[in-house]
Amino acid sequence: MLSRRKFIATAAVSGLGAAGVLALYSANKGRSEYERAVERTWRHGELVSGSAPAALRELVRYATLAPSSHNTQCWKFGVGERSIAILPDFQRRCPVVDPDDHHLYVSLGCAAENLVQAAAAIGFRGDAVFSKGAGEALDVALERAPAVRTPLFDAIPRRQSTRGEFDGKPLSNDELRLLEAAGAGEGVRVHLLTDRAATEAVLDFVVQGNTAQMQDPAFVRELKHWIRFNGGQAARQGDGLFGGASGNPSVPAWLGGLMFDLFVTEKAENDKYARHVRSSAGIAVFVSEHEDKRHWIEAGRAFQRFALQATALDVRTAHLNQPVEVASLRSQFARSIGISSGRPDLVIRFGRGPEMPRSLRRPLDAVLL
Ligand SMILES: Cc1cc2nc3c(=O)[nH]c(=O)nc-3n(C[C@H](O)[C@H](O)[C@H](O)COP(=O)(O)O)c2cc1C
Repeated sequence: MLSRRKFIATAAVSGLGAAGVLALYSANKGRSEYERAVERTWRHGELVSGSAPAALRELVRYATLAPSSHNTQCWKFGVGERSIAILPDFQRRCPVVDPDDHHLYVSLGCAAENLVQAAAAIGFRGDAVFSKGAGEALDVALERAPAVRTPLFDAIPRRQSTRGEFDGKPLSNDELRLLEAAGAGEGVRVHLLTDRAATEAVLDFVVQGNTAQMQDPAFVRELKHWIRFNGGQAARQGDGLFGGASGNPSVPAWLGGLMFDLFVTEKAENDKYARHVRSSAGIAVFVSEHEDKRHWIEAGRAFQRFALQATALDVRTAHLNQPVEVASLRSQFARSIGISSGRPDLVIRFGRGPEMPRSLRRPLDAVLL
């Protein structure tokens, strides 16, 4: 969004200099609160085998480390004796970017995959079944099994959506094969695009989608609502898009809102996406066979395995979903990459690059029923 250098230069020119310095000072006060929250959130827990309430609570904690659209954490968890129900939290919908709740159900799938991986580590086979109708819960039944600690489980606290530039180097064929295998699901497949012409074609759609979104005041309002402009705000709210995770300086919320209006422009965003695509090793497109919630959840599970497998290989992932979010572009985008049936769910770039500041999560008690 906005580089530190650009922010400082602009603040000086526009007479915000003194206020800007003060703002950065007060925003930095929230840093230690943020850093403590990062340490509390992104860690492995003590693994207790068995179905004691503390062990199942810990499985829910792992589930909450999953990605969710705009970091809404649009889930609730009901812990039973030998099962955990994952329910949609419709209070946390994003009606503009996600009018049919597709991303919401994909996010539930991501949480389910973390839960299943963590359950295996404490000696349970997790079987996730989605029940349609009024309840709309994703029930994960837990059956005793030998404990298996997979590299995907180990990667859970290290995974992040990395919104920075990557190093532009290709991955090996072995690495691509592992990613492809991890990203396949029941009724879901992943297409890996690695040649320049194909990724440039995707970039064209990203730019078209971003342009449409940035020209829609309702989209911009919704996005801004979920931005947390400094570490203190991110730590207190425990959700949303922390500006630092996109490489932006921490500023007080009032100034952040102003800066957002000035600098998060269609052109600046499009230029950033071009740099992001051109520095990536490739782009993965997840496609589900049918347009229903069960398949969206499966797409979330497949994507989460992909992201965890990537993390295990020290490969980073980030979203470029504009071509599938803007409904009028979706089928044209699908055809352009040779997909003749099914719904393209997610567009993910991957490659190697530095870690970015972490996003945060709400406390467990906020999501347990
Ligand atoms: C269904 C879904 C859609 C997402 N769409 C985007 C997106 O369009 N752009 C983006 O930068 N991140 C996107 N994200 C990433 C989330 O913003 C991210 O997961 C969240 O902020 C938490 O950060 P983390 O993944 O680093 O834990 C998406 C995540 C999910 C699960």
